[in-house]
Amino acid sequence: MIINTFRKQLARATLSIFCMGTVFISCMATNPPYTVKHLGDNQSIIRIEDAAKYLLIPIEEKAEESWIKMVVNNQEVQSMHIRLAVNQIDYYVPVDLSAFTGKSVLFHFHNIADSAMGWKELKLSDTFDTANREHYRPVYHFSPQWGWMNDPNGMVYKDGEYHLFYQHNPYGSMWANMHWGHAVSKDLVRWEHLPVAIAPDALGAIFSGSAVVDKDNTAGFGKDAIVAFYTSAGSRQTQSIAYSLDNGRTFTKYEGNPVVTSDIPDFRDPKVIRHEPSGKWIMILAAGQEMQFYSSSDLKDWKMESSFGEGQGAHGGVWECPDLIELPVEGTNEKKWVLICNLNPGGPFGGSATQYFVGSFDGKRFVNESPTTRREPLPQWMDWGKDHYATVTWSNAPDNRNIAIAWMSNWQYANQVPTQQFRSSNSVPRDLSLYTFEGETYIKNTPSKELESIRGKAINQASFKVDRTHNLDDLLKDNKGTYELEMSFSNQDAEVIGFQLFNNKGEEVNCYYNLTENKFSMDRNKSGLVDFSPEFPAVTSAPVTSGKELKLHIFVDKASIEIFGNDGRFAMTNLVFPSEPYNRISFYSKGGSYTVSEFRVFPLGI
Ligand code: FRU
Repeated sequence: MIINTFRKQLARATLSIFCMGTVFISCMATNPPYTVKHLGDNQSIIRIEDAAKYLLIPIEEKAEESWIKMVVNNQEVQSMHIRLAVNQIDYYVPVDLSAFTGKSVLFHFHNIADSAMGWKELKLSDTFDTANREHYRPVYHFSPQWGWMNDPNGMVYKDGEYHLFYQHNPYGSMWANMHWGHAVSKDLVRWEHLPVAIAPDALGAIFSGSAVVDKDNTAGFGKDAIVAFYTSAGSRQTQSIAYSLDNGRTFTKYEGNPVVTSDIPDFRDPKVIRHEPSGKWIMILAAGQEMQFYSSSDLKDWKMESSFGEGQGAHGGVWECPDLIELPVEGTNEKKWVLICNLNPGGPFGGSATQYFVGSFDGKRFVNESPTTRREPLPQWMDWGKDHYATVTWSNAPDNRNIAIAWMSNWQYANQVPTQQFRSSNSVPRDLSLYTFEGETYIKNTPSKELESIRGKAINQASFKVDRTHNLDDLLKDNKGTYELEMSFSNQDAEVIGFQLFNNKGEEVNCYYNLTENKFSMDRNKSGLVDFSPEFPAVTSAPVTSGKELKLHIFVDKASIEIFGNDGRFAMTNLVFPSEPYNRISFYSKGGSYTVSEFRVFPLGI
């Protein structure tokens, strides 16, 4: 257990606890002895002299949030919200003290009973154990080493590295204390974790945003600076800038922050792009239930140009995390602009989802080209599962690629999913393009080709006919729950092409293509652990825009299933929490028969 490992860790500092007025209690229960001073009214202070690298804080997720102020030499240096263990310890989180070596650090806790067990279980340590021991930790999807993650942020490519920043709580596995976490990768699949990039300050927590490479030094921060834009979430939401001159390893916050303000309360998630035809930078901001467009020559002074949203698409909740990209239309020389609008709640199956609009953009105004003529229910969803949110793309990606990544969860239950040391992971990276079907233009998501580098040896099945049912046992010999399936179906006369992925515990995911309704569905009602939230059990469905044939490309990674249909014409991402990997598949047909003309499984691993 992580906790036992922490207990063994050698601490070298002294932590003092003072109890009730002048009564001094030295708590010898842990190594080293430490003391707390309780101040009444559920407030207490702790002083640490000559600290170790970390103060390790025991967390209980059901405990109330307490507020902690960290004070050095009488000045507040940081504050955070923490659920200090009251009755039991779920896991530990580290507070990094390395910046204060040789100094005396005081912690002032608010809103924690003097009787909380956590007071006796704080640790000082030079190490923090991040080894993964969790059943549901993904292998090839990015997840934080510890703590909470939501939206991907500031994704930018520079000097051979893909940067991924993300909404991060380093002090617990539930949403709070938003920082920008940071990781880099050369191939979008193998990630190196780096220290937190941007931490909260007097202007507020660090909410979502984007980053660009300022190749021509338009902002004056330096040539090729990475300039990051984020929402300072204080008592109001305003937009701020930070820049990095060392490839994202350190950021300096701009002294003129905030750079964009408004009187709208939900005003956030700046996405900045370069618009070459107008020679301007464009910022798109989510403002209530619309997107606002601003332009700038120097990344600091922004002029509002227009807004988009009224009467367009879904409005079941606030619009968040915009993106604006120009994509080629398959089979033509044309390009169209796509406005990505994440929405929460109001998704097609409840909670969060990513909608998009295809149209034109002239540097000032976005025009949606097909608001009223879509065949399937308005609006268009980029992914037809429940767990695909806050989708945004990499800035400056090589070879004109448009690579997106999403947070693989849903605000309906993101804080309750059954993991502990970490919570949430991202989708696989996906390359975006456009295709046309019956006069309408849609997004195509295809898993990025880099994922092929983690394939093990393929296991192929000869083609087989399904007339009623056909079972395949043992998909993989030693199934670790991380694999990829490729299947092609050619239809004779079936009305339903279906299959269940299942395990020996009777847990299953049922997928079926209903040819009468042109709908592909995934049912996770019996997929394993489902009762941690009433919103979790679900059937999700996607419209199929390609007739009788069906080709599926499926990625499974411990607790997620991502299905790409017909070369990415539809995508469906759903979390699942099986007690053991699904290692069997049972095909079924209704109303006729079909042939599985291709069937291939790859074990995946890094
Ligand atoms: C979307 C979102 C953003 C916000 C961030 C806060 O999931 O609500 O709008 O910036 O999360 O963590």
